[in-house]
Amino acid sequence: MAYHMMSFQSHISLLIVLFGFLGLISFPVEAAIKKYQFDIQMKNVSRLCHAKPIVTVNGRYPGPTIYATEGDRVQINVTNHVKYNISIHWHGLKQYRNGWADGPAYITQCPIQTGGSYTYDFNVTGQRGTLWWHAHILWLRATVYGAIVIMPKPGTPFPFPQPAREFEIVLGEWWHKDVEEIVNQGNQMGLPPNMSDAHTINGKPGPLFPCSEKHTYAMEVEKGKTYLLRIINAALNDELFFSLAGHNMTVVEVDAVYTKPFTTQSILIGPGQTTNVLVKANKIPSRYFIATRTFMDAPLSVDNKTATAIFQYKGIPNTIIPSFPTTLPNANDTNFALNYSKKIRSLNSAKYPANVPLKVDRNLFYTIGLGVNSCPTCINGTRLVASLNNVTFVMPKTALLQAHHFDIKGVFRTDFPDKPLAPFNYTGAPLTANLGTKTGTRVSKIAFNSTVELVLQDTNLLTVESHPFHLHGYNFFVVGTGIGNFDPAKDPAKYNLVDPMERNTVGVPTGGWTAIRFTANNPGVWFMHCHLELHTGWGLKTAFVVEDGPGKDQSVLPPPKDLPKC
Ligand code: C2O
Repeated sequence: MAYHMMSFQSHISLLIVLFGFLGLISFPVEAAIKKYQFDIQMKNVSRLCHAKPIVTVNGRYPGPTIYATEGDRVQINVTNHVKYNISIHWHGLKQYRNGWADGPAYITQCPIQTGGSYTYDFNVTGQRGTLWWHAHILWLRATVYGAIVIMPKPGTPFPFPQPAREFEIVLGEWWHKDVEEIVNQGNQMGLPPNMSDAHTINGKPGPLFPCSEKHTYAMEVEKGKTYLLRIINAALNDELFFSLAGHNMTVVEVDAVYTKPFTTQSILIGPGQTTNVLVKANKIPSRYFIATRTFMDAPLSVDNKTATAIFQYKGIPNTIIPSFPTTLPNANDTNFALNYSKKIRSLNSAKYPANVPLKVDRNLFYTIGLGVNSCPTCINGTRLVASLNNVTFVMPKTALLQAHHFDIKGVFRTDFPDKPLAPFNYTGAPLTANLGTKTGTRVSKIAFNSTVELVLQDTNLLTVESHPFHLHGYNFFVVGTGIGNFDPAKDPAKYNLVDPMERNTVGVPTGGWTAIRFTANNPGVWFMHCHLELHTGWGLKTAFVVEDGPGKDQSVLPPPKDLPKC
């Protein structure tokens, strides 16, 4: 989405603008306050020859971009005018001591009820790059999402060539029917809901879909110039490949962390992740398709339709048929996926070091599994569920952060197992018997400032599958990954403890494992879940309760006065 088209709806006070100008002229800029008003409202939107009312922010789909500069304070007042209760998550913002502004419903806050308002008030500290925001309740993020662009502090250049211009590219999914109705139907049956009917690029599926000529995103470029694409995967359930016909892309950042630049013809991006690439418009001026479609290397059916947008050189008429990327990987290209993720390394420069924890205080090993629990009212008498260490997480009725901060008993238990209670051959033959899971609101307590290693191990309970895991409140380092069962005797020796990628969402490969490390220096309650909405809904989630530290600036801040009540 074009830079100049954005922030129409943002209300930046005159005072701030004045401060901004003063700062530009002379002395270093004081942290500014950026204010936005988000009105959650219905809007009729037509795609693929059908119109339907969708939940939006300010009537826009995708929603408005939040622009901030590193060091800013951001205040977003959300007013809910729709029938659903809502909350918004600022995905990848660290929210130091300030889980109150994180947003996952019933984890850090009760949702904003119809007619209610809540102001998310947070500082943007120690981060710059592309992140995004989305609804964090039900499946409302299907249409309630947008980009967050954090510019480096004034006077701090990017550690890569300055682009002529930036574009935001937000990938999503579209359903013909009302998404909440589809999900309810699925839940009642205990089965997966219908998959999406289209992928979208900036809310538009592109000309390969019916009635979509006019719903095609196009970006205009000039020969010889370099552009920065801020790519966000806001899809609910699909990891996506992304290619641009005829042009290479240079990856320079993922999840708002700079990477060692590398050149590629396609990228892989999981739900929740962001990737910044530089593209040089150095080919024969013409029209070129940008294309995105699902990566799925397990025997599962997915929305396999390709969304397209157009990379259009200035002056080229719209009558020219764009060329299609010949390099878009096949839907089941496991090798591409594994090789691609190996290429992502932290920049690890003097200015942007990779502070990987070298010693580990707490070792966690979580298995990821599907399961089947009894459901007398469901179609087969059973319901599909998902679990970590065989625990299917049950959403509480009181927000966990409130329960933790005010010591309200009986909301959650802190006995989430550090490792599976009954180890098995996780990635052997498919396991189809005894698929019942334990249920409960069970979390892990983590000591302040301890270093944590978490190995996420996929299993073949029903089927193997890849899972994009997201941790709130932190970035983590991805120190290792592999196919098959994690071997605690051999695999740690192969870790990358020098320049591993640092991010907030990482893919656990199909039938494999991923090891992450982080320092638990942010007190509060932090959600961790698979970012496939289907799996989150089935219980593939838990939370870390990171205790307050002893210092005066090491405890959870007091809650804001307008924090919604349950
Ligand atoms: Cu972007 Cu808890 O999610």
